[in-house]
Amino acid sequence: MKNQNRQDSVRKIRKRIEIHVGIAIAALVVAMGVGAAGFVYWGAYNVSALQQHTEPVFTVLNMALDRSIRQRAEEVETPRLTAEMAEQGRPIFQRKCVQCHGAPGVGRDDVGKGMTPVPPNLAHTAKAKSAAEVFWSVKHGIKMTGMPSWQFKFTDEQIWNVTAFVMRLPELSPAEYQAMVAEEHVEEGADRNDVSAPAQARRAATPDAERGKMAMYGYACIACHRIPGTVGPHSDVGPPLAGIGGRRYIAGVLANTPENMVHWLRHPTEVDPLTAMPDLGVTEQDALDMAAYLETLE
Ligand code: HEC
Ligand code: HEC
Repeated sequence: MKNQNRQDSVRKIRKRIEIHVGIAIAALVVAMGVGAAGFVYWGAYNVSALQQHTEPVFTVLNMALDRSIRQRAEEVETPRLTAEMAEQGRPIFQRKCVQCHGAPGVGRDDVGKGMTPVPPNLAHTAKAKSAAEVFWSVKHGIKMTGMPSWQFKFTDEQIWNVTAFVMRLPELSPAEYQAMVAEEHVEEGADRNDVSAPAQARRAATPDAERGKMAMYGYACIACHRIPGTVGPHSDVGPPLAGIGGRRYIAGVLANTPENMVHWLRHPTEVDPLTAMPDLGVTEQDALDMAAYLETLE
């Protein structure tokens, strides 16, 4: 009997302790939530590019980035990377990558120097990572680091070529690289953008609205327009595109037909020389895809 009583009171006390611990944990969670919200709201975190993240934050972010890329690269099928491909990839590398990443014996440009995170040395990357990981990083870009996505600039074939060149970087001495660049200067045309010319003559597939939506990020349309279905800075440099599919005119001057939309997206300044919408080097296929998406915005 006595024993029974004691067991009962022990059970009661235990229960009470559990409730108290529960309340304490709940209070702690709320306090942390409020703390985090306050931290964000009062701007406690320093976003200056001159201030690296703290060591623990840096380590965690880097691990998240590496793991994310490795996971996604597993689905990439790597072709055999030949010397010929590397040769094709070299001019792309010289014109589109060196300003940020540098090259053997070549420093980063002002932009690359001032960035945080600093664009890594790709000779080091080539040793530490697989070709599939390099390909994935170049094709998709890396959010919140400044690494651009090149999917809407280059074909997969071209991205494999530049990947092949990157994978060769660890073997290249500064002198060898300089010799290649010197050769390149002789052959080089004036247009920095012409390395992407083959991308223009790409597939003639049917327009793909979903791909068009992704292209709105790829061409930074979202920097100037509010576009339903996309997340962006909500700037109103250009008119919001909600309802554009149902509108009679494009920019107030062209009848809103699919052909005219493609024309506008590719060459707005041909339509209206004074427009603030710039020519963005949009390919035929990408314009068709984007027009297909815009058409859905009724
Ligand atoms: C505007 C600057 C910029 C340009 C241009 C640029 N990159 Fe990057 N790149 C970055 C930054 C920043 C990172 C991310 C750094 C990090 O991992 O924290 C990065 C990351 C990468 C990575 C992943 C590296 C790693 O170790 O995980 C690869 C591969 C890469 N870039 C290749 C290229 C290639 C190839 C080109 C040219 C087609 C290119 N980048 C053009 C800035 C740039
Ligand atoms: C630098 C800012 C800027 C960028 C980048 C930009 N636009 Fe524009 N866009 C404008 C401005 C400004 C106008 C209004 C032009 C006019 O009326 O002359 C406009 C007009 C338009 C129109 C016609 C809107 C209407 O109400 O008739 C469409 C459609 C459009 N843009 C789509 C796009 C797409 C798609 C992209 C990406 C490929 C893009 N824009 C990139 C600034 C921009």
